[in-house]
Amino acid sequence: MHDPTPQTMGQQFGRRSWAEPWKIKMVEPLRTTTPAQREAALADAGYNTFLLKSEDVYIDLLTDSGTNAMSDRQWAGLMLGDEAYAGSRNFYHLESTIQEVYGYSYVVPTHQGRGAENLLSRAAIRPGQFVPGNMYFTTTRLHQELAGGIFVDVIIDEAHDPYNLHPFKGNIDLNKLEALIAREGADKIAYISLAGTVNMAGGQPVSMANVQALRTLCDRHGIKIYLDATRMVENALFIQEREAGYADQPVAAILKEFCSYTDGAWISAKKDSLVNIGGWLAVNDWPLFEELRNMVVIFEGLHTYGGLAGRDMEAMAIGIRESIEDAYIQARVGQVRYLGELLLDWEVPIVQPVGGHAIFLDARAFYEHLPQTAFPAQTLAAALYLDSGIRGMERGIVSAGRDASTGDHYYPKLELTRLTIPRRVYTQAHMDVVAESVKAVYDARGQARGLAMVYEPKYLRFFQARFAPL
Ligand code: F0G
Repeated sequence: MHDPTPQTMGQQFGRRSWAEPWKIKMVEPLRTTTPAQREAALADAGYNTFLLKSEDVYIDLLTDSGTNAMSDRQWAGLMLGDEAYAGSRNFYHLESTIQEVYGYSYVVPTHQGRGAENLLSRAAIRPGQFVPGNMYFTTTRLHQELAGGIFVDVIIDEAHDPYNLHPFKGNIDLNKLEALIAREGADKIAYISLAGTVNMAGGQPVSMANVQALRTLCDRHGIKIYLDATRMVENALFIQEREAGYADQPVAAILKEFCSYTDGAWISAKKDSLVNIGGWLAVNDWPLFEELRNMVVIFEGLHTYGGLAGRDMEAMAIGIRESIEDAYIQARVGQVRYLGELLLDWEVPIVQPVGGHAIFLDARAFYEHLPQTAFPAQTLAAALYLDSGIRGMERGIVSAGRDASTGDHYYPKLELTRLTIPRRVYTQAHMDVVAESVKAVYDARGQARGLAMVYEPKYLRFFQARFAPL
């Protein structure tokens, strides 16, 4: 029984919650399904949540990519689309917004992040060169490898431990990087592939001190740093919350300072920038820009649209401004944290600290009885869908793919199922429902038997692979 003492009553009355700095103007009805319907849909999808039809999904936490809700201002911006083939006014709006908010000199638009990764990898990697990075991302590493590069993970060891509470688990281990440079020579390093926050590590941030030290090290060796800024606004919030000297600085200023230590960036605007499609690449080096601007016409479209409609660029320019408002980004990361804290209260194993865009369930800890070759994280994503129609995503051995030289699986230390929170889409009540379903699946963990992969595509297999129950 709760018997409030004057002191706890005082705390209760003194309580101050945060809330989203927006209200809802338009709604999209959700569809619920029966267990039998879900069983049929999952079997049809080869036990791969990427192959489910969206209409069979209740709460969709597959990804935060392109699943954002746009604001009324962004929707109004769509009506201002200038669909000229060349020189659209929306491009110049986007260009000046990126220059001002991120601080880079020259901008190339692309249809989404991997379009930018393709261009940068081709322009900046010579075959046989190494590309050190803070853990890998699937499409990023693939484009680096297709360009002849050899990706090397130089993230700090703490990032591979789901329970280590290091506040900046996205940091680069400068000793690992120095050792690589000493062994191979600076000439063999194409560039540093720095991501903030680190998606595959659980949405973990990089500290300002780390990027400053990285800059110093790279200047000594004449090595460039390119930033995957896909979720860099979320990273900036973590710096504001956790790093000495930044508590009173707006997220916008932190973001710009961080970018100033890098030579350029690429982005999937489908995340931070609150749109459904788009990306860009921006650099400070004119000769590199000239090459990128020339290459974009081969792969994406003219350099003033890069595969996007004018209206998409307008929505992106507006979304970038909205994404760096402190109240917005606090609520966005706060909602992810709310879900994480519910699960932690119930002792469900998740990656800690809770990251910026998603909750990562530790599938190894769920299914201690399953070997990694029975795809525990894929199994967990399937079990969650069966329980409630909630869709998550595998981020473990399936996502890691195969080593091209040996043909064997990569065996990542982290075997995770990601519940990714779209921006401005779901409410706190949805988060409660999610947490309760995860708890039910955790309680039934002993019954899981694992999966076998029965179809495996050549590239980025997690998107299209099919499985069958063991
Ligand atoms: N970099 C990071 C860190 C990403 O998370 C993504 C996409 C990309 C690059 C590629 O961008 O999808 O626009 O081509 N991540 C999505 C996800 C797919 O679900 O995490 P894209």
